[in-house]
Amino acid sequence: MSTVPSGTVVITGAAGGMGRPAAQRFAAQGRPLLLCDLDAERLEALAEELRPAAGRVDILAADIAAEDYPAQVIAALGDAPLYALVHTAGLSPTMSDARRIFAVNYHATERLVAALLPRFEAGGCAVLISSVSAYMLADPALLTSIRDFVQTGNDEGIAGFMDNPGMSYAISKRAVINFVEREAPAFGARSLRIASIAPGFIDTPMGRAEAEENAQLRGLITMVPQQRMGHGDEIASVAEFLCSPAASYISGTDIRVDGGIIGLLSMKG
Ligand SMILES: NC(=O)c1ccc[n+]([C@@H]2O[C@H](COP(=O)([O-])OP(=O)(O)OC[C@H]3O[C@@H](n4cnc5c(N)ncnc54)[C@H](O)[C@@H]3O)[C@@H](O)[C@H]2O)c1
Repeated sequence: MSTVPSGTVVITGAAGGMGRPAAQRFAAQGRPLLLCDLDAERLEALAEELRPAAGRVDILAADIAAEDYPAQVIAALGDAPLYALVHTAGLSPTMSDARRIFAVNYHATERLVAALLPRFEAGGCAVLISSVSAYMLADPALLTSIRDFVQTGNDEGIAGFMDNPGMSYAISKRAVINFVEREAPAFGARSLRIASIAPGFIDTPMGRAEAEENAQLRGLITMVPQQRMGHGDEIASVAEFLCSPAASYISGTDIRVDGGIIGLLSMKG
């Protein structure tokens, strides 16, 4: 039987559409939380709401793309053991330029996970967020280049896309999927797990902003087999499951939570 660790849950993007319900779920478990996002006021308001259930709730308002961000998270954790990382902070194609999107979605993720790996208590789990857009990249040569980049740091095959926010976003999310595959052995060696969730079209501030800007996306939303956008809590519930002992053999993989859209598109060929 696996023991349930008792340490802190670090949630990035905690003020966002998926981070907030994730924070509410782990608070309801009575766990200590470290809530991370850009805006201290929104974080403090959430922390106030969650303290009665969660007990200790700390906040960290900082940019995850800053070089010293992992050190800031470690400092905010203090001596507390780490149970889980639920890393939802990210930027979508309409939110920034291609380089910044890649820096936030991939480089910052890689640095944060590397820094936190030694801090997890046995049984702990890191949950990252990819996207269905990673599954919409069809060119086999590009997919090989992304895997090569994640494995070796050689960015030759992806550098040419770093002026296109949509491609940068999709490549960053594919790289997150490959990163989870790459890191699973290091996590397993410490009795830890790492996995990602690929959300479909989710009704959050980000999801709504993208749908407003992009007619093709609105068309895809009408095709989703579940016939609606998802809710942030439908991602948070899977993050909670992945961190629980019920998911004790899930590692190094990506879980699509997309109402069936990628399955449908692949059937159409
Ligand atoms: N909403 C969707 O339809 C959808 C679909 C697929 C994937 N995703 C992914 O899910 C994750 C969560 O998205 P969401 O819908 O909750 O978005 P959201 O915009 O509601 O929340 C994201 C949060 O991340 C924070 N954040 C952004 N950049 C940051 C930075 N540099 N430093 C610290 N915090 C930062 C924002 O302040 C925000 O609170 C993202 O990685 C996104 O790419 C979303």
